[in-house]
Amino acid sequence: MREINACLFDLDGVLVDTAIYHYKAWRRLANELGFDFTEKDNEKLKGISRIQSLKLILEWGGIKKTSKEIEELSQKKNDWYLEMIADIQPNELLPGSREFLQELKDHGIKIALGSASKNAIIILDKTNIRHFFDAIVDGNMVQASKPDPEVFLIGAKLLNIQPQQCVVIEDAVAGVEAALAGNMKVIGIGDKGVLKEANLVVASLAEMSIDQLNSL
Ligand code: BG6
Ligand code: MG
Repeated sequence: MREINACLFDLDGVLVDTAIYHYKAWRRLANELGFDFTEKDNEKLKGISRIQSLKLILEWGGIKKTSKEIEELSQKKNDWYLEMIADIQPNELLPGSREFLQELKDHGIKIALGSASKNAIIILDKTNIRHFFDAIVDGNMVQASKPDPEVFLIGAKLLNIQPQQCVVIEDAVAGVEAALAGNMKVIGIGDKGVLKEANLVVASLAEMSIDQLNSL
């Protein structure tokens, strides 16, 4: 057993119910390009950057685009996504999010965000949870997409906590791999069958307590 001093949270699909909007916006783009993809395929998009997601989707559709077109298509998807989250409210926080953040704060455990999204700050503000974070690392600050551990290693560094004393909370396979590659423990939010490598998988943050962190 080791002492946990920090929690690093993914955002989309962990704290806020935004993973569904990414899926809807990408699907709309794929449909416009003349093909579709499934919810199972969508698991592969979770946690990875906007451009990498688009490149994967184009591969699935067997479509080749120039870099300029790729840039335009990713902008189009992001415009739709921003429309979808324009009116997002604190009530779209996932069950237990705010309560668990508060519990960590009350126990003096440091909190960081480790998200691939370039829209993370907008969402933290709209859902009124930005003040919980001691450090925020988002898609504007990293070079390498999850499963590379960069986003979480920067977070640990900003908090001044050793990776071994951090727990990552993730809903994406790529994010679970990133945490393990960074020598951190990881709690999966979602399906045990999908997030096989996580140290613990729970259905939502409503099931989490401080005691579980130190027993990983
Ligand atoms: C991750 C999502 O949090 O952020 C991915 O899981 C998304 O689906 C990625 O592609 C990048 O998000 P954004 O908001 O910068 O397009
Ligand atoms: Mg996620």
